[in-house]
Amino acid sequence: MLLGDPGRELLARIARAHPGDLPGLAEATALRRDYPAGLVAAAMAQHELRLTARAKFSRAMDMVFTRGGYEQSTSEPIAWHRARRFTGTARVADLCCGIGGDLIALAAGREVLAVDRDPVHARLARHNAGVYGVAGNVTARVTDVRDADLTGVGAVFIDPARRTAAGDGPRQRFRAGTSEPPLEWCFELAADRSVAAREARAVCVKAAPGIDTSVVPAGWEAEFIADGRDLKEAVLWSPALATTSRRATIIARGDRDTASAASAASAAPVAPVVHALTPSPGPGVRVAPPGEYLYDPSPAVTRAGLVEDLARQLGAWKIDDQIAFLSAEAEAATPFARTLKVIDSAPWTEKRARARLRELGVGAADLRRRGLAGDVDAIRRRLKLAGPHRATIVLTRVADQPWGLICADPGTPLAGSGAGNG
Ligand SMILES: C[S@@+](CC[C@H](N)C(=O)[O-])C[C@H]1O[C@@H](n2cnc3c(N)ncnc32)[C@H](O)[C@@H]1O
Repeated sequence: MLLGDPGRELLARIARAHPGDLPGLAEATALRRDYPAGLVAAAMAQHELRLTARAKFSRAMDMVFTRGGYEQSTSEPIAWHRARRFTGTARVADLCCGIGGDLIALAAGREVLAVDRDPVHARLARHNAGVYGVAGNVTARVTDVRDADLTGVGAVFIDPARRTAAGDGPRQRFRAGTSEPPLEWCFELAADRSVAAREARAVCVKAAPGIDTSVVPAGWEAEFIADGRDLKEAVLWSPALATTSRRATIIARGDRDTASAASAASAAPVAPVVHALTPSPGPGVRVAPPGEYLYDPSPAVTRAGLVEDLARQLGAWKIDDQIAFLSAEAEAATPFARTLKVIDSAPWTEKRARARLRELGVGAADLRRRGLAGDVDAIRRRLKLAGPHRATIVLTRVADQPWGLICADPGTPLAGSGAGNG
């Protein structure tokens, strides 16, 4: 109902008066004098969704969402990054297109057959493609993807649902590892030899970042994507599109914000800055106690199983055979890990750590525990932090021994730092 003239007019009126917040009670009452109460309620909820959706889309304030559709949608920078790999394919199918998060990028420069069994989503996908000026390249079909006619389609992208009721109804996550359609069905799409060239079809499947990688078929690429430090998704590329076996992709945060702002102001979305790490076979990485710098790899690197590859790139070593922290004597700027300057490094005892933190004047700390048991909040309370400085306290294992590190961001050393390790 929001896509009709009164709905559009009402949404525009709310957005003009409240570009960054929600109308108050008195204003809602005033709106109900001019529009039906149901339409006002729907428009207020939509306005709230649009405000939230600015985190994913530079043109969110012109798009239309369902809550379920928004929650499952791919953000603009990730969609844009993914769509680049379909360059050279004239006609792509976007199966399970939802509200069109991927569609807006896929349809820039190629024809897309967009399929969803939810008629509201198929309608919104077309509308949202229009917001990005690419609706002319979209053919939308309301059907089960199993019944979609893929004749003439060169490549398929599929983002199966991982929650029930994609619309505004009650939503529930499926059990981990399950989706609709199931992953096995999605993988089978690549084996369909009915395409013109009689080659296996090019397929890309979006999956949960926690996917059990043992289910990924041989010859497929598993890409893990993080937006800044946040791991967002796994993307599985069939052999026709794969260029490596595993990949960690980081969408740079700072660049992303600049790109979104530029995109909002210009006619076309700006491609995000993307960093990719792929396997680089080489000698095994040694294990040794921490040195001057600690590297905390992005979860995309860890999930892709590329910690040793990153270590080789950084000239770093592992601080324990089982734990994904790296260390080096030199500071290296890398998008694939958070770099910390080690101020103190010693076998962990709370008594020693408390004394050292007091000496350093640490009053606020980010506590990271990896490979050690213990209640972080209780440990923090017992450390009785006090002082003007902020630090990162890492509780981990070194050579299978409980170990503590007090670290700072490079460039903002703590008072008294450099007083020695050990
Ligand atoms: C994860 S969402 C897609 C999100 C989309 N890629 C985006 O970025 O906006 C999944 C969609 O799959 C649709 N869906 C689930 N099972 C389907 C099926 N068997 N056939 C067609 N659509 C289906 C749901 O209606 C939902 O809109």
